[in-house]
Parts: sequence; structure tokens; C-alpha cells
Amino acid sequence: MTKLNLDDAKRAAAAEALTLARPGMRLGLGTGSTARHFVDLLGARVASGLDVLCVPTSEDTRAQAERLKIPLTTLDETPELDLTVDGADEFDARLRLIKGGGGALLREKIVAAASRAMVVIADAGKKVETLGAFPLPVEVVRFGLEATRRHVVAAARASGCEGDVALRRAASGAPFVTDNGNYILDCRFGALPRPDDLAQALSVLPGVVEHGLFIGLARMAIVAGPDGVARFGAVETR
Ligand code: A5P
Repeated sequence: MTKLNLDDAKRAAAAEALTLARPGMRLGLGTGSTARHFVDLLGARVASGLDVLCVPTSEDTRAQAERLKIPLTTLDETPELDLTVDGADEFDARLRLIKGGGGALLREKIVAAASRAMVVIADAGKKVETLGAFPLPVEVVRFGLEATRRHVVAAARASGCEGDVALRRAASGAPFVTDNGNYILDCRFGALPRPDDLAQALSVLPGVVEHGLFIGLARMAIVAGPDGVARFGAVETR
């Protein structure tokens, strides 16, 4: 295969994931630059007759899907999905992920958990030996922000993680606000020695709505890079 640039790689991974889509499927649509390619390509298939029903994981993805006339539903109307295709900021050999660089982690995790299978699409740079070079996003409610931040620091320390835990800010300098009206703490811990322990420790903290460690959710990763497109793991599509 010829050398792919980053955006070509993302699109190639998205195109491969599209081969998993079947007529009648209920799909979760991810968020981010890689998922955006998937939604674009899916839109073209829908325009030529593919019948699917989709749940977007963010307002951005909803707007894109609406522009492309992709039929949308909600998890209230359609609580079980067949397949979610989403990007990731990092993933390891056990298909544990860090997500939330775009701030959509909460809806992304709810939609992935409602799906029989989650497939990650990514450029090859996202595959890591050890999670944590990418800052771990943690979505928190606004009330009690500093108290919650300190709890996150303490819980992380108990899981072997130390580092800066800082409020994410938008380009304007104001706090970044998620689609759910919450804030994000970006945790710069570096390599996470025990991601599963850290995930559990963060999950039980008051004020933490969700964290960006996706563990036991992804069934397959489709990765594109200079050597071509590779699949890790497997999903069944009927
Ligand atoms: C959005 O909140 C994220 O979880 C994205 O899925 C993740 O950041 C990957 O985004 P890119 O495909 O833009 O790298």
C-alpha cells in the first residue's frame, strides 16, 4: 500500500468499518475526526439505499448525520444497538481505550455499552504498549469542582498514578463545557500502571460523571497506517 497520510489512514479505517454495516442495523455513531469519516461514508451508503437507524454520541455527530440525512433515533426509543463505530485517543493490546479528547466520552460510553459490539477505528499512532501518554479525560459536575479534583488526585495516587489534574479550557479561556453541561478534568499521569484499578477508583467518586477509560467495551480495533489496514479482535455481524 502507498504511504498514507494521517487523514487518509483515518478514512481507510472508517471505510473498512463500513464493511461491517448491514441493512437493518442499529448503529452507534462515534465522535471525532476518525468517526467523522465513518459518518461521511455511511451517509453516502444511506443515500444509495442502505437502511440503518443510528444514535449519535454528540451534538456534533448529530448535526453531521442530520445533514447527511442518516436516520436517527435515541437510546430511549432504541435502547439496544447492534454496532458502535468510534475513534479512540489510545488503545492497548487488550483493547482498553482512552477516549474523550473531544469531550464526548460520557455519551460515547453510554452508546458503546448499549451496543452488542463496539469497533474502534484509528490511525496506527493510537496503538500503544501502555495507556496514558494521552491525558485521561474525566467528566465532572461543576458543583464542588475543586473538591472533586482533589478526590481524583487522591484516587489516582492510590492506583499508582501521579500528575497534573487540570480543568480543560476552550480556546476562549473559559472552561470547556460538554454536551451534558459538565466540565472535564484532563489527567496527565503518563503511563497508567493499572488502568482497570484506576477506572474503578474513579467510577465511585462523587462528582465524577464518567471517565475516559473504556475497559471491556471494544471488541475490535481497525487500524490503518503505512503498512495497510489491520483488524485486532473480532465482531460478529449478522
Ligand atoms: C471524542 O470525545 C473522543 O473520544 C474521540 O473519539 C477521540 O478523541 C478520537 O478522536 P480522533 O478520531 O479525532 O482522534
